[in-house]
Amino acid sequence: MASSQDAQSSCPGSEEEEVRPATLLDKEAVLKIDPNYHGLDYLADCYTSYTQGPGSTGYVLKKGDEVVGFFSCQLVDAGHTLVTSGGRILEGHRGGGFYGRATKKVFETFRGSGLCNIAMVLNNVNLKNYGDKLLKQYQMVHSRESAAYTVDMDAIRKSDLSKTAADMKGIHQLTSEEELQLLMSVAGDCLFPEGRVLIELKPFRIMEENARFILHGGTHERAILVSGAGTDLSSESPEKYSAKDLLFSCGSYFYNQVGVSYLVDMYATGIADSSEEVQKHLEWHFLRLINTLKPSKAYFHVFFERQLNAEMEALSSVYPNTRSDFPFTKMSVLEMEYKQ
Ligand SMILES: CC(C)(COP(=O)(O)OP(=O)(O)OC[C@H]1O[C@@H](n2cnc3c(N)ncnc32)[C@H](O)[C@@H]1OP(=O)(O)O)[C@@H](O)C(=O)NCCC(=O)NCCS
Repeated sequence: MASSQDAQSSCPGSEEEEVRPATLLDKEAVLKIDPNYHGLDYLADCYTSYTQGPGSTGYVLKKGDEVVGFFSCQLVDAGHTLVTSGGRILEGHRGGGFYGRATKKVFETFRGSGLCNIAMVLNNVNLKNYGDKLLKQYQMVHSRESAAYTVDMDAIRKSDLSKTAADMKGIHQLTSEEELQLLMSVAGDCLFPEGRVLIELKPFRIMEENARFILHGGTHERAILVSGAGTDLSSESPEKYSAKDLLFSCGSYFYNQVGVSYLVDMYATGIADSSEEVQKHLEWHFLRLINTLKPSKAYFHVFFERQLNAEMEALSSVYPNTRSDFPFTKMSVLEMEYKQ
């Protein structure tokens, strides 16, 4: 396995450029780089997991003494895929090719390590800006529609809501053991036909070695739910679920400048993608957000096979929310073969 220390040298072509592994001491300088996420950036909360979490290394990009960039790499899929994320370059330094040079320099350090693929998640804005170039090398292997909604927490607090997530009938929250069984089952194959799942903005192949990333890989605890479109799943083991009509959702969250961003990643088979079923899951996650996290301000982000404006609007009488003008409406997973 290549050492991340191997990346500690100047990039070719520029004496002043340096890319090296990030430490906790770099956090303050890295967080000064604004990625233009409208206050919803995850890095302040997730810096430790992006730089030191399982399989993860962060890299700082420096010009002279100044930190001008950052990205994180996570080795997943049993060491076969390197996922880059959290990338950002200080405004004023963008477009000079440093990000491209720095990532390539780090990829080089994996020669001889058994690495087969390099993957990233690209939002629609970056896909528009960089897609022509990136798609010459990478293939689009998975994509999800997405949207962000502001939640009116003041109105919810005043409404004296007495319901809890436990009151939601027909939805089963999986234990860790059940989560793994579901991923490895026939039902799992049907829920994730492309063999991949996007969870909290990172892509993973459906394989046992990824269970620790998929189920527990975030900065905060995730909640994984399934429902069976009318079938009670509570007494069934996931290995026995009928693969036909299932809705899977995973709720993750991070703190940001605004308050909390709560992310719901959803996958469905058969009639379980109905508005009614989807709304039940969204409501469960709303109740977790309201009763467990109790944020003063919150954004709700949904990732599904289609946009969910109608479902979110239907819920807004009890959970007042408005679609925000956050520009990211689609997330695409790009992957390229890494030739050793
Ligand atoms: C995206 C961003 C980091 C690119 O920085 P930049 O200085 O414009 O980058 P470069 O001039 O090096 O051009 C981009 C190069 O990186 C490559 N690249 C790799 N991953 C990329 C990614 N996630 N987004 C864009 N380009 C990426 C491009 O193919 C291009 O390669 P090339 O050098 O072979 O042409 C910068 O625009 C930024 O900070 N944006 C705001 C935050 C953001 O959107 N981050 C991306 C998270 S997915």
